[in-house]
Amino acid sequence: MGSLLFFFLSISLSCAFVYCLSSSEFIYPNYSASHFRFIDSSGSFLFSRNGTFKAALFNPRGQQTKFYLCVIHVASNTIVWSANRDEPISSSGQMNLTFRGIYITDEDGSFKWSTPQLRSPAAALRLTEMGNLVLLDQFNGTLWESFQHPTDTIVIGQYLPVETALFSAVSDYDLSTGDYKLAITASDAILQWRGLTYWKLSMDTKAYTNSNHAVEYMAINQTGLFLFGRNGSVVIIQMNLPQSDFRIAKLDVSGQFIVRGAAQTREFGGPADECRIPFICRKIGLCSDDATSGSPVCSCPSNFHLASQNTGDCVPADASYSLPVSCNTTYSSSQINSSSPVSYLRLNYGIDYFANYFTSPVKYGVDLSACQDLCSEDCSCLGIFYGNSSGSCYVVEYEFGSIISRTTSHNDWLGFVKTLVGAATRSFDDDNDIGGPTVQFPLIALVLLPCTGLILLLALGFLLWKRSRVSKTLMIKLGSLTCPSSGELDAFSIPGLPKRFEFEELEAATDNFQTKIGSGGFGTVYKGRLPDETLVAVKRITNLGVHGKRDFCNEIAIIGNIHHVNLVKLKGFCAQGRQWLLVYEYMNRGSLDCTLFGGGPVLEWKERVEIALGTARGLAYLHTGCERKIIHCDVKPENILLHANSPAKISDFGLSKLLSPEQSSLFTTMRGTRGYLAPEWLTSSAISDKTDVYSFGMVLLELVSGRKNCSIRTQSRSTSDDNSGGGHSSSSSGQGLVYFPLFALEMHERGSYLDLADLRLEGRVSSEEVEKLVRVALCCVHEEPSLRPNMVSVVGMLEGEIPLSRPRVESLNFLRFYGRRFAEASMIGEASAQNDVMLYPQANASRTKTKSGSNTYFSYISSQQISGPR
Ligand SMILES: *[C@@H]1O[C@H](CO)[C@@H](O)[C@H](O)[C@H]1NC(C)=O
Ligand SMILES: *[C@@H]1O[C@H](CO)[C@@H](O)[C@H](O)[C@H]1NC(C)=O
Ligand SMILES: *[C@@H]1O[C@H](CO)[C@@H](O)[C@H](O)[C@H]1NC(C)=O
Ligand SMILES: *[C@@H]1O[C@H](CO)[C@@H](O)[C@H](O)[C@H]1NC(C)=O
Ligand SMILES: *[C@@H]1O[C@H](CO)[C@@H](O)[C@H](O)[C@H]1NC(C)=O
Ligand SMILES: *[C@@H]1O[C@H](CO)[C@@H](O)[C@H](O)[C@H]1NC(C)=O
Ligand SMILES: *[C@@H]1O[C@H](CO)[C@@H](O)[C@H](O)[C@H]1NC(C)=O
Ligand SMILES: *[C@@H]1O[C@H](CO)[C@@H](O)[C@H](O)[C@H]1NC(C)=O
Ligand SMILES: *[C@@H]1O[C@H](CO)[C@@H](O)[C@H](O)[C@H]1NC(C)=O
Repeated sequence: MGSLLFFFLSISLSCAFVYCLSSSEFIYPNYSASHFRFIDSSGSFLFSRNGTFKAALFNPRGQQTKFYLCVIHVASNTIVWSANRDEPISSSGQMNLTFRGIYITDEDGSFKWSTPQLRSPAAALRLTEMGNLVLLDQFNGTLWESFQHPTDTIVIGQYLPVETALFSAVSDYDLSTGDYKLAITASDAILQWRGLTYWKLSMDTKAYTNSNHAVEYMAINQTGLFLFGRNGSVVIIQMNLPQSDFRIAKLDVSGQFIVRGAAQTREFGGPADECRIPFICRKIGLCSDDATSGSPVCSCPSNFHLASQNTGDCVPADASYSLPVSCNTTYSSSQINSSSPVSYLRLNYGIDYFANYFTSPVKYGVDLSACQDLCSEDCSCLGIFYGNSSGSCYVVEYEFGSIISRTTSHNDWLGFVKTLVGAATRSFDDDNDIGGPTVQFPLIALVLLPCTGLILLLALGFLLWKRSRVSKTLMIKLGSLTCPSSGELDAFSIPGLPKRFEFEELEAATDNFQTKIGSGGFGTVYKGRLPDETLVAVKRITNLGVHGKRDFCNEIAIIGNIHHVNLVKLKGFCAQGRQWLLVYEYMNRGSLDCTLFGGGPVLEWKERVEIALGTARGLAYLHTGCERKIIHCDVKPENILLHANSPAKISDFGLSKLLSPEQSSLFTTMRGTRGYLAPEWLTSSAISDKTDVYSFGMVLLELVSGRKNCSIRTQSRSTSDDNSGGGHSSSSSGQGLVYFPLFALEMHERGSYLDLADLRLEGRVSSEEVEKLVRVALCCVHEEPSLRPNMVSVVGMLEGEIPLSRPRVESLNFLRFYGRRFAEASMIGEASAQNDVMLYPQANASRTKTKSGSNTYFSYISSQQISGPR
């Protein structure tokens, strides 16, 4: 061993000699460098083999105070990586390479940065031809590499893995970590500013989504930018770029994600509309596109003026108004105690705010003053945006970004900036001023304040989600509830709890659970008759979560208090030993799926429209009408119940919380197999009320067609003959295999809505209503949740109160992909159930490791190939 080491050392020493003379691709311990020591004043001490990249102690833009250890692309003089971005050194600070790694110290010897502890001694530092700075051990094994610690840029050959991020620099001469972030999520690459999303790769018109697999990393190569999954074997999202041997992708200081090719040519920038960059015009600055150049121009909105030329922030022109400071910043909190009255400065018409596209309103269907009150009560709120026709209330919290000036659309938006009346106690103009005590109280303030519904909802959701230990605390907070921990439920009292039945009573009512009328994710439903002769449906729950007993009390109290004509009423419950039962009103015509898809008499059009409207109203109530927003999570025809003398009602709402985690994944799989599952279930995106909107859209399509969206069509379509003129219809593969949502999209594009109506109705439909339902349905199934209307708007559109939205084809192209997979799956002769599974391969793969045999493996086809170039 010793002789081997000696041998290696002698080789490496001789190599060092050689490389010092020709090119210095390697340096070896003990090496030290400083900017000061290099005559060429570029500070370079290491070059890649062909000189494409160099490493240097470098001062960007020639300023003389901040020096960084950088990897630089020589031809374009672009910094692609920096070691000590947050700890710059002076011109005489040093970089030392020892067997323990790289150390950066300042002039006075103070420590600034180092590589982490290495698992074995470093033998060399190498700069590769790709631009990777690598610490090698004596066997040329990699101990550490700069590619794994990206700053704001990636180059060809570098992977940016999921759950990592690039952070912009503060400016071109100060490389420290700025406020913009490019994050790789399981489904997308997104740009964020202070936690708020402002761009997604998947939404960009140049990007195509090819697959639903989980993203593993982002990379660029000579032909484009890609998100890869399955260990690099599957492209999830791709963006094709011109062929180029050199390319870098950088999150620019401006907040734009920019891809450049050779000679600095700009190949791509996202967001394309620079006014969508959150802080492009600083605080409350108004961004508009210059008519001639198209580049953004900043100004202050009317009633505002520049705080000072240096910052570019806008403040109220009238000095008797001042801007409040959000309670979540590091400023002194004295403002919160201030008793200054709050007022709102109105922004002009035709404005917009970047976040309104990616966040949900904190409230729907409220009037303007209620929206303002929400903001006044919330010390973190700095302003509101209010959708006048829908009554949606969006709040701006923590930091006000730039405002977009839009003369064309959204004249419905009203924007208000919260101000305090009375002379400002201090100037808030300068963002860098962090004088004054920093009081750490925000969390308490957020919880205790009667704050926005959103925060409350988040907190509740979080607590319920972590239902283990915290559920007890939650109940104490909720008040008079005393659910005993031992599992005996006799001593509790919850206000508003519905009637409690004895198990024997229900046994008798159902004639010992004789007549089964349904079954689902929670258990089986039986028909029963109470002593007073009222008919009931008794749901016997079998799949209760581990900690179900406590939550059961809570959830029942909530469900029992929801009364709406389109929601099935919970009449009572039983919680005795291991028996968990819910007693619902009885709906004598059963569920919609039997009536709609069954062999009985055809459901007439008028009734279908009423069912659609009733279901929409029920969901809108769940989302906005209750004290707590309730997301159904399982909207499907099986959960829409009919009665001879009353409107359609939704069942099973509020129950998803009662499931154990294993059960809920089963539940998700079940949903997946039926095709009502929104794309975000498959990714790590948030489940929201928009998830229900998607499922509702799918149900609407089934109401129109009278058949399941994912079934194999046996009837032959009249339109399949007129393909000659209209081009090839990709939804049908010639054997009557149709993924109906895709067929609906195609007929929408052709304007022939009547082709979508149930043939069994033999034309007894209103063509206007068919068009309306189909268009609403397509808007509901937009892939991007923020583009789906909320249920309140859906009700408005169905009632004709608000104008129909136009489906956005760019967010529906995923249907072409699903449709193609459906057709392919059907053709290889799988049973229908497995077709469904294959539409959601990821849901299947991650949950049940079955049937991944070669014939069920699906080769992905780019949406580009399916839909043709866009
Ligand atoms: C580098 O310096 C350390 C401590 O000063 C010493 O132990 C080591 O042998 C030196 N390495 C080389 C390759 O000169
Ligand atoms: C360096 O340049 C030569 C000639 O231009 C080329 O053949 C070689 O592949 C390059 N090496 C690397 C690592 O790119
Ligand atoms: C770095 O190397 C220089 C020159 O060899 C030496 O004077 C200095 O003490 C070293 N610094 C550290 C932190 O090891
Ligand atoms: C390490 O790599 C260099 C350059 O590629 C080579 O010259 C050297 O022989 C390698 N050393 C070992 C121990 O493999
Ligand atoms: C870039 O990556 C894509 C996706 O893997 C691949 O299809 C393409 O051939 C690659 N281009 C080059 C030049 O390697
Ligand atoms: C992923 O691919 C790399 C090379 O492409 C291979 O070395 C590695 O074993 C693969 N990992 C898995 C989990 O398949
Ligand atoms: C607000 O405060 C919370 C908790 O202190 C913190 O996690 C969050 O990042 C802060 N948000 C902003 C925008 O500063
Ligand atoms: C707020 O006011 C209360 C009483 O008026 C006072 O006790 C408290 O210290 C004040 N807090 C701050 C942060 O000024
Ligand atoms: C808001 O809409 C109502 C009608 O829906 C209209 O009367 C009112 O003028 C609008 N308000 C503003 C400020 O545009």
